[in-house]
Amino acid sequence: MGIFLNSNRGPWPLFKQVFFLSCLLCLSSCTKSEPPAFLVELAGGKAPGPSKPAGSPETGSPGAHEEPGDGDMPDLAEAIARLSGTGGDTVPADVLLGEAGGIAPLSAPAETTGEGNLLGRVLDLSGLPRELRDKLGKAAAEDPAFVMDLLDCLEGDPFLRRLVDKTHPLPDGYEPRDLVELSGGSYHAGRPGLALRRQAAEALEEMAAAARAEGITLTASSSYRSYRYQVEVYNRNVREMGRALADRESARPGYSQHQTGLALDFGSIDDSFAETRAGRWMAEHAGSFGWSLSYPQGYEEATGYRWESWHYRYVGKDLAAFIDNWFGGIQQYALQFIHAWENQ
Ligand code: DAL
Ligand code: ZN
Repeated sequence: MGIFLNSNRGPWPLFKQVFFLSCLLCLSSCTKSEPPAFLVELAGGKAPGPSKPAGSPETGSPGAHEEPGDGDMPDLAEAIARLSGTGGDTVPADVLLGEAGGIAPLSAPAETTGEGNLLGRVLDLSGLPRELRDKLGKAAAEDPAFVMDLLDCLEGDPFLRRLVDKTHPLPDGYEPRDLVELSGGSYHAGRPGLALRRQAAEALEEMAAAARAEGITLTASSSYRSYRYQVEVYNRNVREMGRALADRESARPGYSQHQTGLALDFGSIDDSFAETRAGRWMAEHAGSFGWSLSYPQGYEEATGYRWESWHYRYVGKDLAAFIDNWFGGIQQYALQFIHAWENQ
């Protein structure tokens, strides 16, 4: 277990080490018939083929569990080396991530693409910018915290990490089953009839209470939208601004994060929100409550949408931390990476 002592975050507490082991054990046994391909491969066996996450997309309920025998457990040091395809000394995370945790290119890009290792294949499939792929390859090689953070995300509700963008629609006819009305609490409900999935509504209340303690009121302005409602919204935008402009800020029906019941527009729903106290507070603190800005400034090419300072998606605290720690706060990149990981 010497690898844990090399973590650049200092020695891991015993409970974290135990949790890390249980994550691998759990993932290695999450289907009755065969362990996920990546674990088989990490353990030195041959991957049986594409692996899919267990459980229903909506509930995240895990599949049947079956404890593996001792022989199924890969050696962790070897596993992480195999995951990255490299080894080496640890490098501080701020070197890997750039000073502000942004996506600055490495001065000496790591060899991550291609051939022969799982992470290289995932990164190739992910469509992420080259410099980010290099940085992630290096991070995975040298910092076990990357694997730990990834496993934390994979343990959670699969729907929270589902990629919903211009090329990844929701399942036909998707409707969340646990919508609750946003009736206001510590936040202001901008109009009647707003709703979110229960876990997002609870996380909104938690975040709004923290904002309110600092004298800031968050206003919920647009929340869950059914497929039908998104038809109306999109068509209205096309009528008012033309299709080209509408497609920069309005999702086509079936492709909107709002249909997940996890996305929320705050305040004025226009650019002025960024400069309000609420907008600035959200930009700084939303991640701590599991919320992530979906369409950040300067990433239209990646997200397909222009900057929307008001549109946040609830992704849960683990995924929000993963996005901030390893993807410079760019939700789209993290979801693309996880999508590639689960579909490689
Ligand atoms: N404004 C975002 C892109 C939506 O319509 O879902
Ligand atoms: Zn929105």
